[in-house]
Amino acid sequence: MRTGPPHFDFIARPYRWLEYLTVGLALERSRLHFLPVLRGRTSALVLGDGDGRFLARLFALNPALQADAVDISPVMLRLVRHRCPPDAALRTHPADALIFLAEGPRVEYDLVITHFFLDCLTQAQVARLAKAIAPRLVPGALWVVTDFTIPSGAMRLPATLLVRFLYLAFRILTGLRISRLPDHHAALQAAGFCRISEHSSLFGILASEVWQWN
Ligand SMILES: C[S@@+](CC[C@H](N)C(=O)[O-])C[C@H]1O[C@@H](n2cnc3c(N)ncnc32)[C@H](O)[C@@H]1O
Repeated sequence: MRTGPPHFDFIARPYRWLEYLTVGLALERSRLHFLPVLRGRTSALVLGDGDGRFLARLFALNPALQADAVDISPVMLRLVRHRCPPDAALRTHPADALIFLAEGPRVEYDLVITHFFLDCLTQAQVARLAKAIAPRLVPGALWVVTDFTIPSGAMRLPATLLVRFLYLAFRILTGLRISRLPDHHAALQAAGFCRISEHSSLFGILASEVWQWN
């Protein structure tokens, strides 16, 4: 087993097809669920966007948007560049998100996007991330989080098995060493964020949320 940070380069190109083969369009729909309410946002921090499908849609909605896309995988960032318009005000940063927030440029954002990214971090890392992001935001800034959840009731067992399977697959393919979903609710609330909208899909296994700063 590899040690150190995960390596998503290897799966960057087939990522989209692996996703569609595993869960069809369910992830894509949950990523895009709150897109319409993001019209008019001007400055976005997008962490771990993967192959850029979401950022391309965000630029299509907001052509004047400025965005910092941070991803530990340079190949993913190349795909982001390829998908976004050539004249987009997009800065790409091949870096660990926590290091970028500690050392990167001091930009103020009115939007943060993390789709299926917080589940690559430990609870302590999500808490550090939320605390590091908060001072970079303007009042009223939005943070859109999309992630897997384990619902209660009849879907608890299937959801647990699916999440275990996905973590195992990512461990084998990328060396990701996380094996349980962090509680991002606790981390974001502790950092001063307030959840203002939520949407559940795939029988409660996927959650799209909008959190607001101040
Ligand atoms: C599971 S994929 C999710 C991709 C995409 N956002 C989606 O909705 O499918 C996680 C992404 O986060 C990146 N990543 C993982 N850990 C990271 C870290 N610590 N810092 C920055 N990027 C990271 C990976 O390279 C990958 O692009």
